[in-house]
Amino acid sequence: MATPRKNDNGAILECRGLNLWYGKNHALQDINILYRENRVTALIGPSGCGKSTLIRALNRMNDIIDGCRMEGEILFHGRNILGHHVDVMDVRTRIGMIFQKPNPFPKSIFDNVAYGPRIHGQRNKKALAGIVERSLKLAALWEEVSDRLDESAMSLSGGQQQRLCIARALAVEPEVLLMDEPTSSLDPLATSKIEDLIDDLKEKYTVVIVTHNMQQAARVSDFTGFMYLGKLIEFGRTEMIFEKPTKELTERYITGRFG
Ligand SMILES: Nc1ncnc2c1ncn2[C@@H]1O[C@H](COP(=O)(O)OP(=O)(O)O)[C@@H](O)[C@H]1O
Ligand SMILES: [Mg+2]
Repeated sequence: MATPRKNDNGAILECRGLNLWYGKNHALQDINILYRENRVTALIGPSGCGKSTLIRALNRMNDIIDGCRMEGEILFHGRNILGHHVDVMDVRTRIGMIFQKPNPFPKSIFDNVAYGPRIHGQRNKKALAGIVERSLKLAALWEEVSDRLDESAMSLSGGQQQRLCIARALAVEPEVLLMDEPTSSLDPLATSKIEDLIDDLKEKYTVVIVTHNMQQAARVSDFTGFMYLGKLIEFGRTEMIFEKPTKELTERYITGRFG
């Protein structure tokens, strides 16, 4: 890809007139949203409104779904990543994804984190060990696992597994991290560790998080988009969305009157 530059409005990533269909289901309707660098953007809204669809579009994870069609633009550093010429693997390296349920590989802790760098051709043991340590530290997991890197990732708790998945995503040096309800399977303590981690991560990364938990969105995000039935109803600074929403639908949702 060309030298990094921001989109003309300062966003690192942006959807312009994005439409998506699953067959006849028009699941994303004319979405215009931007994601600012080193900020956390939350997507909220009731179940089935298109949050996962939108976050998956950002690193072309919908490509693998049969009958899925997109129109419009997703600009990453000013370049449309929906074009045919785009190297999708490169997009997914630079825009990493963390899923709802922690999905570590049934391999050792070390091998989970080393997985991506190895695929990218890194074979040097010392270099790999350095990447693994650095990534685990960034994911706030190093202190808990540094003396058992050879143990299976499956021996970790759910919260540790999710932080391991974050370390695995960080190991290939992404710029953007997409998280789709990353704490929905975790207990409150593990959840608060991930939320603290998200706060640290935005120093280096741009984060997009889907959550149906409005308190979580209010705690971790700088910007919030409220989605409803495939549309982005309102987008703005998180405190504005929660304290002074301009749309009635947003207000009804955040005050718990539906959803
Ligand atoms: N893989 C898929 N294939 C077909 N339709 C899908 C798929 N994923 C989601 N949808 C549909 O797209 C709409 C939005 O779903 P989704 O993005 O999962 O919403 P949310 O994450 O907000 O709960 C729903 O109507 C859902 O049924
Ligand atoms: Mg979802």
